[in-house]
Amino acid sequence: MTLSMQGLAKSFKQGDTQLKILEDLELNLQDGEIVAVIGESGSGKSTLLSLLAGFETPDKGSMSWNGDVTREWDEKRWSEFRKRSLGFVFQNYHLIPYLTAVENVGLPLRLTGVAGEEANAAGEKLLRQLGLAQRADHLPNQMSGGESQRVAIARALVHKPSLVLADEPTGSLDARTGQTVLDLLFTLLTELKQTALIVTHSAEVAARCHRVLTLRQGKLWPS
Ligand SMILES: Nc1ncnc2c1ncn2[C@@H]1O[C@H](COP(=O)(O)OP(=O)(O)OP(=O)(O)O)[C@@H](O)[C@H]1O
Ligand SMILES: [Mg+2]
Repeated sequence: MTLSMQGLAKSFKQGDTQLKILEDLELNLQDGEIVAVIGESGSGKSTLLSLLAGFETPDKGSMSWNGDVTREWDEKRWSEFRKRSLGFVFQNYHLIPYLTAVENVGLPLRLTGVAGEEANAAGEKLLRQLGLAQRADHLPNQMSGGESQRVAIARALVHKPSLVLADEPTGSLDARTGQTVLDLLFTLLTELKQTALIVTHSAEVAARCHRVLTLRQGKLWPS
């Protein structure tokens, strides 16, 4: 899947002032490209991912997925896009609190009509690959931060989306677990020729990506 952003701007209103976060931002991703986004805390990385997923609306500029201009999308088109084509790893995981790990992971499949048993089997397989076979029946509040993060990664990959947006996917993992997770993540991304934008503070994650962009002063800069 290709992605293009042109002249993109986003600001937030804070009392009487407008906080300009993104300004005249440009981004072009080729099909199958895996790109890292780095930048200081508060520079707008999560905001950028929110715009790409349609959770936030840009103030200005245009954005297109596979040449399809998203300004013309209604909420129904956006949710179809998220359901079929998008895997999103939230910075704070956003697991559904009343679903077990395996149910959380299987959810994207259930949403596209896959039967429970098949969704659970796919979920269990990914959880096993991420070292969480013993946690499949745990609820989110019965898991550590790093375990929750791996569940969130599995949920973003289970339906083999053509696009993966990941916000600090290894931020809560120790070095060894991080390695295992990165190996699987990059193997899957490459095998499935998925396009991916990965926000990270880790030099190791960035080094594995095809390109690294830095978000600074509202724009993306090559590094
Ligand atoms: N809904 C909102 N309302 C007001 N301000 C917001 C909102 N969302 C984000 N911001 C502000 O926008 C700026 C960018 O936030 P964002 O979460 O995108 O940063 P980030 O680069 O992801 O930072 P971090 O590395 O800490 O996760 C921050 O200063 C934040 O306070
Ligand atoms: Mg963030």
